[in-house]
Amino acid sequence: MDRRKAFKIAAGAVAAGGAGLFTLTTAFKPEIKFENTPQKIDFKQDENNWKYSGLDPFVTAELAYKYYSEGSCMFATVKSVISQLAEIIGEPYKSFPIHLFKYGHGGVGGYGSVCGTLNGAAALIGLLITDKSVQDKMIADIFRWYEKEPLPAFNPNTQAYNYVPVKSISNSVLCHASNTNWCKTAGLKVDSKERKERCRRMTADVSMKLATSLNEIFTNTYLTNIQSDETVNTCVTCHGNEGKVNNTAVKMSCNSCHSESVAHRVFADIHYKVMD
Ligand code: HEC
Ligand code: HEC
Repeated sequence: MDRRKAFKIAAGAVAAGGAGLFTLTTAFKPEIKFENTPQKIDFKQDENNWKYSGLDPFVTAELAYKYYSEGSCMFATVKSVISQLAEIIGEPYKSFPIHLFKYGHGGVGGYGSVCGTLNGAAALIGLLITDKSVQDKMIADIFRWYEKEPLPAFNPNTQAYNYVPVKSISNSVLCHASNTNWCKTAGLKVDSKERKERCRRMTADVSMKLATSLNEIFTNTYLTNIQSDETVNTCVTCHGNEGKVNNTAVKMSCNSCHSESVAHRVFADIHYKVMD
C-alpha cells in the first residue's frame, strides 16, 4: 500500500472515533536541529566590476517611490539603487539596462508569481554580491521579512496619491497572494488606485530594506535570519534536506498554501519515527 493511501485510511480511523489518539501527536517529534539564531556572515567580496557605495536607505526608498510610475515595482526597485550608483561611481552603472526590469511587474508580466519588488531586490543582490551562499541568505532574509512584517510602512515626503494604505501581513512572497490578502484586509479591489498606492509604498519599503542590507553586508555587520518562521522550521525538520522525508525545496511560508490535515497532525511524527 502506498504511503498516501495509508495516510487516508489513518485519517478515516481517526474520524471513526479514535479521539484518544490526539494525545500521541507529538510523542515522537524529532529533535529540531536547525540553526535559527541570527548568524554573522563573514563576508569578503572578491573581484567584481560592480562596486558598491553606501546608500541612504530613506533616499533609496523615496527614489523607488518616485520611479514606480515609470515602470512599476521591479523596475523602480532596481532604478532606485542603480541611479544612485551611476551618479556616485559612473560606469558600468551609467549604461546599465534598467528597462529590462519592467518585466517583473505584477509578479512577472502580470502573471501573479513572485512579487516584483522582491524580484528586483534579489536581482541587485545577484549583481553586487558574487558568493551564491551569501546571496541566498540575504534573499531569504528579505523575503521572510516581507512575509511577516505588517506593510506598507513607508511614508513618502510627497504623496503620489492622497491615501494612507492600511497595513497587512502578506504571509506570501507571491504577488497574487500578497495583493489579495491586502485587498481583503482593506476591503478594496485589486484594480483600485488604493491598491496601486499600497504596492508603490511596498516598493519603497523593500528598497529601504535592501539598501540597509547592502550597507550592512559591505561593512561586515550583517546578521542573517533576524526574522525566523517557526512553522517553516518545524516543517523542514522532516521535509527539508536533512529530514527523512526529504521531498521539498522550499523556504516560503508553508501555511500560505498547506493547512495541516488531521491525518498529518496525528500520524506524521509516528510515521516519521518508523521510517528509514
Ligand atoms: C515529524 C515529521 C514531520 C513534520 C514536522 C511535518 N511533516 Fe509533513 N509529513 C511527514 C510524513 C512522515 C509524511 C508522509 C510521507 C509520505 O507519505 O511520503 C508527511 C506528509 C506530508 C504531506 C503530503 C501528504 C499530506 O498530508 O498532504 C504534506 C503536504 C506535508 N507533509 C506538509 C507538511 C507541512 C506543511 C508541515 C509543517 C506544518 C509538515 N508537513 C511537518 C512528516 C512530517
Ligand atoms: C505557493 C504554495 C505552496 C507553498 C508556500 C508551499 N507548498 Fe508544499 N506544495 C504545494 C503544492 C501545489 C504541492 C503539490 C500538491 C500535490 O501533491 O498535489 C505541494 C506539495 C508538498 C509536499 C508533498 C510532496 C510529495 O512528494 O508529495 C510537501 C511535503 C510539501 N509541499 C511541503 C511544504 C513545506 C514544508 C512548505 C514550507 C517550507 C511548503 N510545502 C510550502 C504548494 C506550496
